[in-house]
Amino acid sequence: MGKTDISSVPVEIAPGIFWVGVLDRKRTLFDSFMKLRYGTTYNAYLIVGREKVALVDTVSVGFGDLLLKKISEIVKPEAIDYVVMNHAEPDHGGVIPGVLSLAGGATLLASKKGLSAAKLYYDVPENRMEAVGEETRIDLGGKTLRFIDAPWLHWPETMFTYCEEDKAVFTCDFLGAHVAADSIYEDEIGEIVLSEAKRYYGEIMMVFIKPVMKALDKLKELDIKIVAPSHGPVYRNPQPILDAHEEWTRGPLKAKAVVIYVSMYGSTATLAQTVIDALKEEGIEVAAFNMVEADASNIVSDLVDCSAIVFGSPAFYGGMHPKLATPVEVIRSIRPRGKMLATFGSYGWGAGAAKEIKTRLVPTGFDVIETLEIQGPPKVDVLERARAFGKTIANKISDSLV
Ligand code: FEO
Repeated sequence: MGKTDISSVPVEIAPGIFWVGVLDRKRTLFDSFMKLRYGTTYNAYLIVGREKVALVDTVSVGFGDLLLKKISEIVKPEAIDYVVMNHAEPDHGGVIPGVLSLAGGATLLASKKGLSAAKLYYDVPENRMEAVGEETRIDLGGKTLRFIDAPWLHWPETMFTYCEEDKAVFTCDFLGAHVAADSIYEDEIGEIVLSEAKRYYGEIMMVFIKPVMKALDKLKELDIKIVAPSHGPVYRNPQPILDAHEEWTRGPLKAKAVVIYVSMYGSTATLAQTVIDALKEEGIEVAAFNMVEADASNIVSDLVDCSAIVFGSPAFYGGMHPKLATPVEVIRSIRPRGKMLATFGSYGWGAGAAKEIKTRLVPTGFDVIETLEIQGPPKVDVLERARAFGKTIANKISDSLV
């Protein structure tokens, strides 16, 4: 018997709980920023009780027909009693109007803020919606749904849904990863899931670190056998992904520096290599990105656990090089925990890059630990200063981790 093609059929992840999501393998960009290496999925789940049927989240616009086809293999879409909206963003809520129109008797369940979002985004009439909270129980007949307040993961209205009997938690964006594979199960996909989950966490969750901590604490109080997010795979052994989030959120930072640089004539690149070598000689892990070629979305994973960020920029008309504007803005927005900042670079007739980078990042809590600005190409004495600059950063990283 051949392997099931999950792109066209539902997958029963627990008795009476079906993944009816879709694969978007061709998508290469998320949020018009994040480069996708493995596409993504929009996961929806159909929960079939003895008496009632609930659909947890929908899918992105353009995939509605496939969602309905998958649902139809299990029940008639008209038979859906509840559409649970864990999150209103259109990659999950986009097909809500279509489902509610087919399932004329269905009620949309969402957090209080979710109701406003459902009205704003999908014109759901008030008499078709009901607010749910942590006290709510929805009995489908042998399947009891509970709801967990989990705001800001990743919008203010987000919540989780928990099926008591199957110990399955549906977390929408939270605990997700942008991975579309031949299996919906993490344990059948492999190591790429964890590295993609870390990139994903860095991009959309790290800025909400306190809500993430609260959500992780709430999840610890639940007995969980299945974690079913709405991007990427389902976890049948959920502890490792929960532990990974705990580590990224509250674990110690690493003896690691992210070095992000641009060079125009090779001077700043020479400094960068000298600084990188000095950091490594002192035992510091280095993730280096030459922004002439690197994509800014690839830096976010290393920002999750680095201790220091080191920018190298030539002066560009008295400011930083424009190719550093995106990484600087990304760092300003997503708020890495490691707050040590250092800058270096070469200028021709007027410095200014260091000042501009500091002006953008210091207000978000960064502490400038070292600056090295030199005029013209680096000579032997300057390279010695660059080595000393790298070693000083290394020492400060090591001291911060004691
Ligand atoms: Fe996958 Fe915040 O939407």
